[in-house]
Amino acid sequence: MRKKIIAGNWKMNNSPEDSKNLVRDTMRNISFGKEKNLNVIFCPPFTSLSLVSEIIGHHKENGVFTGGQNCHWEERGAFTGEISASMLKSSGADYVILGHSERRQYFNETDEIISKKIKVALKNHLIPVFCCGEKLLERKDHRHFEIVEKQISLGLFPNFSELPEGIFPVIAYEPVWAIGTGETATPNQAQEMHFFIRSLIAKKFGNGKAASVSILYGGSCNPKNSGELFIQPDIDGGLIGGASLKPEEFIGIINSI
Ligand code: PGA
Repeated sequence: MRKKIIAGNWKMNNSPEDSKNLVRDTMRNISFGKEKNLNVIFCPPFTSLSLVSEIIGHHKENGVFTGGQNCHWEERGAFTGEISASMLKSSGADYVILGHSERRQYFNETDEIISKKIKVALKNHLIPVFCCGEKLLERKDHRHFEIVEKQISLGLFPNFSELPEGIFPVIAYEPVWAIGTGETATPNQAQEMHFFIRSLIAKKFGNGKAASVSILYGGSCNPKNSGELFIQPDIDGGLIGGASLKPEEFIGIINSI
């Protein structure tokens, strides 16, 4: 059975002190053991990653992990201001978000760059949370399936043949028009895209792989809309931005799965 996953993407928010309080407040209210097949992932900014990893450290067996929000595609070197996959790993991370639309939009990340990042993440035994999703105009032009197919084919598929044992990427469908806007994809819109993504994987790698990949929805997910999204057959959880900064909302989303 594939994993259910709720990941909190804190983006560029929270000092180490704020991070400590947020993760402690959230952890206090997670009821472990209720849902054995669920992973909860905190993705704080780099400056809080070690601290948050330390706090959740002994909860890995309960399915609680940390992740980075980005990494560089090279292993090391003269790349001022950048962070490598091995640095994330040694700071306690097990996951890394790659290909987020904010990275594509503000930092000009192309599918080719994202593919190189996925490769280095896998090499360092980090599980990529690969993000894809169309912009508003692309949806209005009915090009959303075409866009997502291209992002997955160029960004993710080149690395599928080199998966280390026991590591499988997670995919997050995040329509750009839903991120931070308060406008969520309808359960039907999300389900049909998730089904499409799963069938792309089935076509290329067979039904077994397709059935085991966790596909998350992201974009203005909150405790009010998460239940009807997560009940869809191909939606395996969420990548949560704004609501992951508020313990009661994040917990509400976790409890709705
Ligand atoms: P949001 O962000 O939940 O604030 O819309 C989601 C994301 O960017 O991953």
